[in-house]
Amino acid sequence: MSDAYLPRPEHQFTFGLWTVGNPGRDPFGHEVRPPLDPVESVHRLAELGAYGVNFHDDDLVPYGSSASEREAILKRFRAALDETGMRVPMATTNLFSRPVFKEGAFTANDPDVRRFAVRKTLDAIDLGAELGASVYVMWGGREGVEADAAKDVRAALDRYKEAVDLCCEHIRERGYDLRMAIEPKPNEPRGDILLPTVGHALAFIGELQWPDMVGLNPEFAHETMSGLNFTHGVAQTLWQGKLFHIDLNAQRIGKYDQDFRFGSEGIRDAFYLVRLLEGSGWDGMRHFDAHAYRTETADGVWDFARGCMRTYLILKEKAERMRDDPEIQDALRTAQADRLAEPTGPLDTVRSASLDEQALAAQGYGHERLDQLVTELLLGVR
Ligand code: GCO
Ligand code: MN
Ligand code: MN
Repeated sequence: MSDAYLPRPEHQFTFGLWTVGNPGRDPFGHEVRPPLDPVESVHRLAELGAYGVNFHDDDLVPYGSSASEREAILKRFRAALDETGMRVPMATTNLFSRPVFKEGAFTANDPDVRRFAVRKTLDAIDLGAELGASVYVMWGGREGVEADAAKDVRAALDRYKEAVDLCCEHIRERGYDLRMAIEPKPNEPRGDILLPTVGHALAFIGELQWPDMVGLNPEFAHETMSGLNFTHGVAQTLWQGKLFHIDLNAQRIGKYDQDFRFGSEGIRDAFYLVRLLEGSGWDGMRHFDAHAYRTETADGVWDFARGCMRTYLILKEKAERMRDDPEIQDALRTAQADRLAEPTGPLDTVRSASLDEQALAAQGYGHERLDQLVTELLLGVR
């Protein structure tokens, strides 16, 4: 394998402990891989060139651990971080596995379930802050419904807002340097999940008490499940100054939530995403929220992790080559791509410009040639 695509910490690749640690359970079958010690994940990912690891509260400190067990776990985990130089840029809460959350967490009808969920999140925020996380992800996997009669969605959104506001209040009171990132998803595990897309979540943030503290963690698979263009969703998130974190993986439209290795499906979509992130100067993490195929043994997990990072770096190089390719640049000029930066106004210009509709309608944009050139670049023949 060529060294040109060797991941290094400065590429800012991160993985969740739950991703490489995924034991391959699915709705039809049991685990196929043994549990992975978080300390081993830290060492293996560091050897592969990752920058850091992220976790749900329960991934690191098993639910129900005593205070002394928690201390011992954190001590070992910190030692692994110190030894490898790995960081914890993001933390999150598991508000979906335990039976108590079956009807929802922040938006459960029962106020006590909501109090339980918010308290679990406050504890997890403390844990994340303790380990240096600067982004806190909120994925509301159980915030949804199958029986529409049972949930008043407008009231549920009031409660969702209240819960996020309470978390922000806690962060402010404790003085943490932590921003919240909401992760939209249309369905799975619920029939319908609240804040199903990037657009819904962006609009929701505007209603919060401290909207500046809250942004998004969009995920490739989640927008793709809805048949939406993920790159466009990320572009709008960037445009609104709300990209706080990102979940990279692969997914085919119309399928269950696949969480495949980055670039393993939809390579063009992955390319345009990498081109957007790199072109925008995104300085956050390139986080993979994916897992190895269920066919893999414990060793295959590291092939999976290496593959995610390697494909990202290959696509990054392709984006640079696209920028430097004279023929593609010429085709972009034919498409008038650069002219979109030109403002339409001022109003006087709009009113007085002499506009020849027929001549404008007769122009060609050369998209077939442009798209074929990019396709050939991706296929490795340019
Ligand atoms: C999923 C989600 C999760 C979240 C994670 C972080 O579809 O299961 O993507 O993996 O990203 O819980 O909060
Ligand atoms: Mn997901
Ligand atoms: Mn995710």
